[in-house]
Amino acid sequence: MKIYSAPLQGFTEAVWRNIHCNVFGHIDGYYTPFLRYEHGEIRSKDIRDVERKNNSVENLVPQIIAATPEEMHPLLDLISAEGYKRIDINMGCSFPLQMRRKHGAGLLPHPDMVAAIMKEVERYSDFSFSVKMRLGCESRSEWQELMPILNDTPLHHITMHPRLGIEQYKKPADVDAFAEFYSACKHPVIYNGDINTLNEIKAIEERFPRLKGIMLGRGLLANPALAMEYKRGEELPAQELASLVQEMHDAMYEKLVTRLQGNTQFLSKMKPYWEYLLPDMLKRDKKAILKATTIEKYLQAVRNGLSSFAL
Ligand SMILES: Cc1cc2nc3c(=O)[nH]c(=O)nc-3n(C[C@H](O)[C@H](O)[C@H](O)COP(=O)(O)O)c2cc1C
Repeated sequence: MKIYSAPLQGFTEAVWRNIHCNVFGHIDGYYTPFLRYEHGEIRSKDIRDVERKNNSVENLVPQIIAATPEEMHPLLDLISAEGYKRIDINMGCSFPLQMRRKHGAGLLPHPDMVAAIMKEVERYSDFSFSVKMRLGCESRSEWQELMPILNDTPLHHITMHPRLGIEQYKKPADVDAFAEFYSACKHPVIYNGDINTLNEIKAIEERFPRLKGIMLGRGLLANPALAMEYKRGEELPAQELASLVQEMHDAMYEKLVTRLQGNTQFLSKMKPYWEYLLPDMLKRDKKAILKATTIEKYLQAVRNGLSSFAL
């Protein structure tokens, strides 16, 4: 079974992906956070994130979010100009602003709009498209209405995150509802949602033997070795994990410190990773990292935290 790295806006950007791949690896494909066409343009930050010159990861799949074919076209042009052949379509984003504009999970109650996007998928046959979706926006029956349209479209695979858009991340992922989707979908299926440990990967693999793979999101931010553990068949000792996290962290520091001027910008980029990273770290060590007000204090707190984690 393959293991993929999920798109997470603000986290799994080029710097994180390139360094994660060098230090931890064992990921069969990285997905970019969604690219969008808004107010007549694509943000330059998003363009930089997919430009080949900024990406060293081999299996990188750009993800787009769009409500209409017109919104798709400029994104497809950019992706084509950068030479990618694979594209992932976001039909799962639960940010209220996006859903209100019928983007992401906001598309799911509108089979006519999904059909229009799937028509473009057929038309642009030079690309190989996949879809990442939820069960629905407001109702668990929405995916069932979409199934004939999706089954009739040539898709590389569908990634299912079995929650509703309106639930965001509140309730646990609905694995029984996923089972129904898995039976009805004629494309290869990837599971996504709430996978944090090697045993949880194994349980999903056992229950769904035809699965193409599992996509890891917050679980991979928390334990960047999760895919490595699956491929090796065992968990990493705390000492090895701490040392690899330090290596990844140092490489991110080197890359980001010159780009993000001053304490505030750098710290506000790095601290959110620690909201997820190594949940078993001592509470007081985590707090020291999150409270640090200068880069020097922050780096010292990271070193302290990782050395006690390793013991
Ligand atoms: C901060 C954050 C940003 C996200 N950004 C994206 C995104 O750009 N595209 C997307 O398809 N999903 C996005 N997601 C959803 C994740 O890819 C994933 O589907 C979700 O977190 C469930 O998987 P997990 O439990 O393994 O994290 C985001 C989630 C979070 C928490």
